[in-house]
Amino acid sequence: TSYVTEAFLEGRTLVYGHRGSRAYAPMNTIPAFELAIQQGAQGIELDVQLSADRELVIIHDFTVDGTTDGTGAVKDLLFAELRELNAAAQFSPMAEPLNGHIPHYPFTMIPTLEEVFSLVKEGAPLDFIINIEIKAPYCRENGRDEAENDNGIEALVANCIDRYEMDRNVIISSFNPPTLQRFKAIKPAIPVGFLVEEASPAYTTGLIAQLLPESSGTRGHEAWHPRFSMVTTEAIAQERQEGRMTQVWTVNDATVAHQLRDWGAIGFITDMPDRILAALN
Ligand code: G3P
Ligand code: CA
Repeated sequence: TSYVTEAFLEGRTLVYGHRGSRAYAPMNTIPAFELAIQQGAQGIELDVQLSADRELVIIHDFTVDGTTDGTGAVKDLLFAELRELNAAAQFSPMAEPLNGHIPHYPFTMIPTLEEVFSLVKEGAPLDFIINIEIKAPYCRENGRDEAENDNGIEALVANCIDRYEMDRNVIISSFNPPTLQRFKAIKPAIPVGFLVEEASPAYTTGLIAQLLPESSGTRGHEAWHPRFSMVTTEAIAQERQEGRMTQVWTVNDATVAHQLRDWGAIGFITDMPDRILAALN
């Protein structure tokens, strides 16, 4: 069984560093992931995309413009070009960590999925969880699964998980039901989380059931990953009744975290793992 499912069955709470400890270190970088481990998070969340030459790179936006010192679409840039960019170029902290100060981040490369797996294998607890969000262009904006979304990223992620033997440590998440369907077809035993927010195209709620049907004891998808602001106690109870865990994002407020836990949420994806851990412990 995967560690995330074990935690759910045992009623344990999971705190994930969103893009790492993103409040205090450049998002989706090795220093941000290291900090989340140091702060005692049970997991991290990260965003994965393909470079033009099909390397798995960890970056949130579809272009490099918002976080680095470069410009252009991630999918049009070669891996070597991406690696020259500074992923810390536009970093500004959201707050001070509870213990310590924010160091200066002079230059930090855009990491690969392999590098994150290596870091976790070397420096994190055995049951540390990596919530891998597969970014699929356009799905979030208009709900279409454009043909160009089917770029084979799911198979590359699955292959990387195999090579690093991270089967038990990962959960795959996506706003795009076809992405989750394609991943499940390759690795049925790995849990997947369906990401939703208020602005998600309405039809996607139906699409997930259509593409990942609950049949013969197989749960279509194991986790529901809603934006915290759309969650109700009834919705969490409903998911639980269907055997699904609820993991919420992005929870940076202690009061909100408490309420969501009372309602039955088990996962908390936060920019500030230290604060949410302190609040929930
Ligand atoms: O995992 C939840 C969250 O990461 C989804 O939104 O835009 O931060 O990737 P975003
Ligand atoms: Ca994400």
